Amino acid sequence: MRLKMEIYILGNGSMAEAMAIGLSSKFKVIIVSREKQDSRYLSEFNIKNELYGQKYDIEGKNIILAFKPYALKEVSKKLVGKAEICISVLAMTKLEDLKHIDSKVRVCAMPNIAAKFKASTTIYYTNDDDSKAAQILKEFGDIYRVYSDDEFKISGVVSGCVPAYLALINEALQNGCVREGINKELARSLVNSSFKSSVELMQNFHPAIMKEKVCSPKGMTIEGVYFLEKNGIRGIFMEALNRSINKK
Ligand SMILES: NC(=O)c1ccc[n+]([C@@H]2O[C@H](COP(=O)([O-])OP(=O)(O)OC[C@H]3O[C@@H](n4cnc5c(N)ncnc54)[C@H](OP(=O)(O)O)[C@@H]3O)[C@@H](O)[C@H]2O)c1
Repeated sequence: MRLKMEIYILGNGSMAEAMAIGLSSKFKVIIVSREKQDSRYLSEFNIKNELYGQKYDIEGKNIILAFKPYALKEVSKKLVGKAEICISVLAMTKLEDLKHIDSKVRVCAMPNIAAKFKASTTIYYTNDDDSKAAQILKEFGDIYRVYSDDEFKISGVVSGCVPAYLALINEALQNGCVREGINKELARSLVNSSFKSSVELMQNFHPAIMKEKVCSPKGMTIEGVYFLEKNGIRGIFMEALNRSINKK
């Protein structure tokens, strides 16, 4: 029987959990943490737990860094040996920042927590052979390789922030439904289902064409679209993205 490839995730926060669950169906996943973990998801998805200790041996291992970015220096000092691949998902971290970790391949990646449902949008950047990184990262969603630090930064902000922007719209529409007299449960189902329909349409049509298709002359949709445009909806989102990207 072929043994499953092992992946060691350094960190035990929400991103580590999401990736561990997303990867667990294909790989043997080990969460490496500072203290013993007893979260239910570990046993549920057959994920093992190891501790760093004073030194942690990464020789020949596939490791994913998923702790807080400020801890990179501190954790790097604990790592001994040469990893097979080192994938960092730390925000605001460049390939250059990983130079203190000995590894055949170094990768900066920016997934999102939909990795838990194998639905992450993951951007990654490496100067090495990307085949193993792609094999690992695509297990929890769609992957996009970029070729510069700038592209990585901007694309990572898109994949990281868009879920929050859309959550605001989703919640506002649910509140709007309740305001009009629809109960909360139905409001949630209707809005979520409309999001699902919209994604399907957007995958098949450019947004401008999709909008054309649902707006009829003197209709109610164009009335709402007009109100949103009059209030600068496009500029608001473009500025929000610009602010997220330029946040220091
Ligand atoms: N959440 C997201 O949507 C998302 C998306 C993309 C990338 N990321 C990146 O993923 C990483 C983790 O984020 P998160 O949301 O999972 O954060 P989180 O839930 O707050 O977890 C933080 C993790 O960092 C560990 N940590 C903190 N200080 C440490 C230190 N000095 N040494 C070793 N470990 C330390 C914590 O360990 P203890 O439990 O021992 O304190 C914990 O495992 C961050 O670098 C973030 O930029 C997050």
